[in-house]
Amino acid sequence: MKKYFITTPVYYVNDKPHIGHAYTSVAADVLARFHKLQGDDVFFLMGTDEHGLKIQKKAEEAGKDPQKFVDEISAGFKELWEKLDIKYDAFIRTTDEKHKTAVQKVLQTLFDKGAIYKGEYAGLYCVGCEQFKSESDLVNGRCPDHDTDCEIVKEESYLLKMETLQEELIEKIENDEFKIRPEKYKKEILSFLTKEKLKDVSISRKNVKWGIPLPFDAEHTTYVWFDAFLSYLTGLDWNGEFLRLNLKNKDLALKMDFWPADVQLIGKDILRVHATIWPIMLLHLGIELPKLLFTHGHLLSGGRKMSKTIGNVIGVDEMLEKFGVDGTRYLLMSAGTFGEDVDVTMERLMEKYNADLANGLGNLLSRVLRLAQNFQFQSPPKADQPRAEISNDSIFKNIENFEFEKSLEKIWNMVREDDKFVEENKPWELVKVNEDKFKEVMKKLISDLYLISELLVPFMPDTAGKIKKALETKEPVALFPRIK
Ligand code: MSP
Repeated sequence: MKKYFITTPVYYVNDKPHIGHAYTSVAADVLARFHKLQGDDVFFLMGTDEHGLKIQKKAEEAGKDPQKFVDEISAGFKELWEKLDIKYDAFIRTTDEKHKTAVQKVLQTLFDKGAIYKGEYAGLYCVGCEQFKSESDLVNGRCPDHDTDCEIVKEESYLLKMETLQEELIEKIENDEFKIRPEKYKKEILSFLTKEKLKDVSISRKNVKWGIPLPFDAEHTTYVWFDAFLSYLTGLDWNGEFLRLNLKNKDLALKMDFWPADVQLIGKDILRVHATIWPIMLLHLGIELPKLLFTHGHLLSGGRKMSKTIGNVIGVDEMLEKFGVDGTRYLLMSAGTFGEDVDVTMERLMEKYNADLANGLGNLLSRVLRLAQNFQFQSPPKADQPRAEISNDSIFKNIENFEFEKSLEKIWNMVREDDKFVEENKPWELVKVNEDKFKEVMKKLISDLYLISELLVPFMPDTAGKIKKALETKEPVALFPRIK
């Protein structure tokens, strides 16, 4: 069985989950479900990123103990994934004991081999990004992603050697041993890596209390990104002990066989760190790099990044209430090209919902079922039905290549064609003049709907099941109520 290990980023628990988080997660769920259907041995990892200054400050503001604060928000993320019908295989929290002990082991190992050393770090720090910034990253002296001033930090710090492994990293990216896709992001990272020598990265903070203490210097806590990256391994129960992973070693926890990840899905805002710090940590540890880092664009609203200050944020709960679970999943996955920024507004989402789901698929299904019922049409067993004229292969290829919107577009072309087919053939008249032709028309429609329901399983699991059941029982079902 081919294994397929897919991860989403571990999300920050400084605030409630939003539509951007849902976007990455639904896409990962679609891929996981698709690969399970293909018979692959799938492991789908999600989790929450719970340390660092940003979260420490938020907990202080809320007047809460940080652990209690993160417990609540992390639980809120899990709840949302359940609502969205996202079926992960494991959920790692960076405050889990097993994670913390593994991180400390890794730190000690890298310190002992000299990959981590004591020095000083001076720079501008954006708390929103939890990252040091160079002057060239800033716009008018402010972080463009968060529109905030950066803090000047100058302190004793432990650093991770970066430049020593830069050439090796470049080579692995160039020859696709460590694939970065879409291609434009591979180019972007290579041009960055070949232009500048990587500065050693500060992996500890002296004045941040909410973090994992360094095992060799209790005055410091671990830099939140260093901690968070390792969750991709501790999520597989890795205990941090093996320097070189020997996959034939029977003592290794079974789940570790899933490493290297087949796909790590990330948004473009966190590409740079995922394509530099993370692989260099792995190279220092002698652990294989993930096979593929796939980067998606951002959801914008009305041409601008969604932000609470601008007031253009679309809430996931609002979407779930209006469009239901599968409606929301569909609208997110069909919103636009996955690797590019995608603009969504509530108005357009509502239009699309009505056009594609209420008047489209939902209406087609009820029409066909009504015809079957009114004229007592018995469809033959599924095996005897004509093959629908659509290439599964091309749709499967689209999903494998993260072209969700294309695969859905192909399925909806079929819905629209079938609608036209009903209009043109007028089965309610045909039944009176040519029963054979009527049967033929109905057979085609029903077999197309069966196929559509199969193809929709990864995207809209509940709807797919409902369609199949309705076709079997010929009981009409209201899939998507029209909204105003
Ligand atoms: N905790 C880090 C990730 C550590 S991974 C070792 C983090 N968390 S996050 O909660 O801020 O964001 C996680 C993901 O959500 C990113 O992939 C990011 O791109 C995605 N999104 C956040 N806002 C987004 C949009 N508006 N649109 C699409 N996705 C965006 O970063």
